[in-house]
Amino acid sequence: MANDTQRFQAIIAHCKEYGFIFPSSEIYDGLSAVYDYGQWGSELKKNIKDYWWKSMTQLHENIVGIDAAIFMHPTVWKASGHVDNFSDPMIDNLDSKKRYRVDHLIEAKAEELESAGDAAASKTLLDKMDELLAANDYEALRELIIANNIKCTVSGTSKWTSVRQFNLMFSTQLGSVTDEASEIYLRPETAQGIFVNFLNVQKSGRMKIPFGIAQIGKAFRNEIVARQFIFRMREFEQMEMQFFVRPGTQKEWYEKWKETRMNWHLSLGIPKEDYQFKPHVKLAFYADAACDIEYKFPIGFKEVEGIHSRTDYDLKQHQEFSRKKMQYFDSETNQNYIPYVIETSIGLDRMFLLIVSHAYTEEDLSTAEKPDSRVVLRFPAKLAPLKLAIFPLTKKDGLPELARELMNECMPAFRCFYEEKDAIGKRYRRQDAIGTPFCVTIDHQTKEDGTVTIRHRDTMKQERVAMGDIKAMVQKEIS
Ligand code: GAP
Repeated sequence: MANDTQRFQAIIAHCKEYGFIFPSSEIYDGLSAVYDYGQWGSELKKNIKDYWWKSMTQLHENIVGIDAAIFMHPTVWKASGHVDNFSDPMIDNLDSKKRYRVDHLIEAKAEELESAGDAAASKTLLDKMDELLAANDYEALRELIIANNIKCTVSGTSKWTSVRQFNLMFSTQLGSVTDEASEIYLRPETAQGIFVNFLNVQKSGRMKIPFGIAQIGKAFRNEIVARQFIFRMREFEQMEMQFFVRPGTQKEWYEKWKETRMNWHLSLGIPKEDYQFKPHVKLAFYADAACDIEYKFPIGFKEVEGIHSRTDYDLKQHQEFSRKKMQYFDSETNQNYIPYVIETSIGLDRMFLLIVSHAYTEEDLSTAEKPDSRVVLRFPAKLAPLKLAIFPLTKKDGLPELARELMNECMPAFRCFYEEKDAIGKRYRRQDAIGTPFCVTIDHQTKEDGTVTIRHRDTMKQERVAMGDIKAMVQKEIS
């Protein structure tokens, strides 16, 4: 593949063609930055969710999960600071009337410089941007855009407005009366559902600090520049965990969660060099440490997960706004306090894109005799949408019946796929394209000695094994 942009476009096209991701409401020309997961995409997404959920809750005795509502009392967002602060610096082009996030506009220019071979200029530009963002110096940011001759992609001009802040929350009305009191928000993060339930969970679960609450759910942000496929969406899913700790111990827990989360990523077999930690240049006013875990997407190193040491800010704010105590009594120290919080927050859709980006491989299999190639999704077996495809060699001679026997045995244990149509080679290629790690062929020899051919997706190697061993073999690989 010639370059990363082409590779990214190929991944997007592949996701659509093979039932992973479709543009939302496509027959009406789609809805910007909103996507639907198809038959294999929803399986992959669910497997990622389950893998995260299991490793956070089942494998941690002191972490429990909840499932809070998307709608919350509007004061939650006042208390959390989202009504006043959840905004990004934006700039409008006067000719096209198109609005851009300032950092995205400058990053796009930096990428352009980098692709043109001027890595030093790219770095200087990004460093300057970071410095000005940290200082909230909007006038200087506008000047930086103009000085670097950054143009609107629609109008092609650089007639820019001043830089202003825009809130990213979607609002709607609760009930039938339209007044200010009934205005509620679609949650922009799942974390607040955890904070407001902190004492419910702690008391009903008799949880002792340190402990965590995990949650997976939808979040909504009115992203102005929503592009790059499912990387930046307006409706997306987060997998978040708030870990409540004794004040003064947050630094050590922050380091521990950085390590734990990175290990989770590496446990999927993705190379270490494709990841990096990026400390936040501009800390949110309530955080005392924060970083991103970045992955090398085809669009460059980008954030997939955030680890934030959020101090006692959120619980304190909810205590103040709700006038309900948010304190915890620590029987070891005999003290009442508001716990400090370490947050791990990963975007499920970004993790999906990461897995697909890692898995997508175009292989040239040409020989001297004939040209050949395949597209294969090398998913970690435990995340693959389908685990096993079962093919009778022909539609007759009792082979489908034998294949059905194997289907019936394996279906309750993991997701299987049955197919009789076309030559075996074609059927293998179709499974490669959706990332099925194992295919089994039932042939005439199966009738004689009970053996089948199992074909491994990545190596394309085939081996003859007893049909009765297949279920255990696959289970071992996906566990
Ligand atoms: N509670 C903390 C929080 O929401 P964040 O860095 O704004 O922090 C956490 O978001 C994660 O959610 C990000 O690392 C990213 O993976 C994902 N995310 C954020 N905005 C997104 C969007 N518009 N589309 C897809 N994923 C998004």
